[in-house]
Amino acid sequence: MCASAERFDAALAGPVDVVVCSAAIWAMEPAAVASAVGRALGPGGRFGFNVAHTDATSDLHRRMRALAGAAGLQPAEPRPLPRRAELLAALTIAGLEVVRAVESEVFESVESQRDFLRLPGSTSRTLPRVPYAERLRLLDLAWTASAPAGATVRWIHVLAERRP
Ligand SMILES: C[S@@+](CC[C@H](N)C(=O)[O-])C[C@H]1O[C@@H](n2cnc3c(N)ncnc32)[C@H](O)[C@@H]1O
Repeated sequence: MCASAERFDAALAGPVDVVVCSAAIWAMEPAAVASAVGRALGPGGRFGFNVAHTDATSDLHRRMRALAGAAGLQPAEPRPLPRRAELLAALTIAGLEVVRAVESEVFESVESQRDFLRLPGSTSRTLPRVPYAERLRLLDLAWTASAPAGATVRWIHVLAERRP
């Protein structure tokens, strides 16, 4: 099945036992996803997801956007990451009960940030008018023109259960 996470339940034949969403809810509308999950799960069904929930805007990304701005390419602001309270509230409203919510800190090396920024989807929102080849060129420039730093990012890992 290929469907938007905000409406994937409409494509299901019946209730499901488990929904998993890894490292992706930051790019979605969390309240709409929680509500689709609430509709998709049968009673007692479980939803597991993880997401970074502190500012993950890397030095490298900031520098790419600054270079794009200097070239008149009109970069957009990154979308704010969903906050823990916002995520947990969306689950409750959707009829899901949090079974476990665990936090961890992950150090993202500058190399892993660069690898992430090489994915076409990772900069399509903040550099909407810049073709992919040009975004890669900006990334190379940002990488060589400075000494960007890695960062520690806080992640939350949540397991929730659909109330009977
Ligand atoms: C950082 S990747 C994570 C991919 C994979 N889950 C993993 O853990 O490696 C985020 C993924 O979310 C997908 N995505 C973003 N917005 C979406 C939406 N509204 N509905 C469905 N998928 C979406 C993107 O296409 C991308 O594949």
